[in-house]
Amino acid sequence: MPLEGRLTWAIRASFLDYIAALSDGRAVLSDGARVTPGEGIVFPVRDADVSGGVGRVSTRGAVRFFGHGGALDIRIADPELELGDSSGSITVESPAGPSVIARFALVARPTAAEMRWLAHDVGLTEAGADLFSRVYRPGEPLDPFTVTMSADTVAHRFLP
Ligand code: HEM
Repeated sequence: MPLEGRLTWAIRASFLDYIAALSDGRAVLSDGARVTPGEGIVFPVRDADVSGGVGRVSTRGAVRFFGHGGALDIRIADPELELGDSSGSITVESPAGPSVIARFALVARPTAAEMRWLAHDVGLTEAGADLFSRVYRPGEPLDPFTVTMSADTVAHRFLP
């Protein structure tokens, strides 16, 4: 049975507006990432190791932003989430290897009825600030995001 799940994340609304306003601004999706209008970029879940709502969820897909004649080239690929009791972190692939770009608070966690996490207060780490060429400072906010997985997926994959 395939893993049914997704990370839905608009990254940061002001950044998307900025790219959209550039004469040569582009966002290129690949490797399974797609857009759900009004919600954000959807990264399908690739693998998960979750117990009691705590664990790790890896996704696949990439979005790459271009602009300013190539001076701006920012890639967010294969986001991986560490989900704790009340907080977590998000790691993306970079040319130098995996990089923790942001930390967040979990304001909603899975219940018996629904396998869904909602992350708020998503703040850039040092590496996250570097990803945006230090235009944003460490601690500056990115958008909230959700992670959902079907209960069937969880039951099939993670229960004995
Ligand atoms: C030709 C070079 C560039 C010019 C003229 C330029 C110009 C600007 C301007 C005018 C703003 C809006 C500032 C504001 O209103 O707060 C801005 C924002 C920004 N720029 Fe650039 N930029 C350049 C290159 C870059 C590069 C190379 C990057 C990253 C690799 C970058 C990333 C950003 C980011 C992340 C923002 C903030 C967007 C937001 O959240 O509002 N820019 N830039």
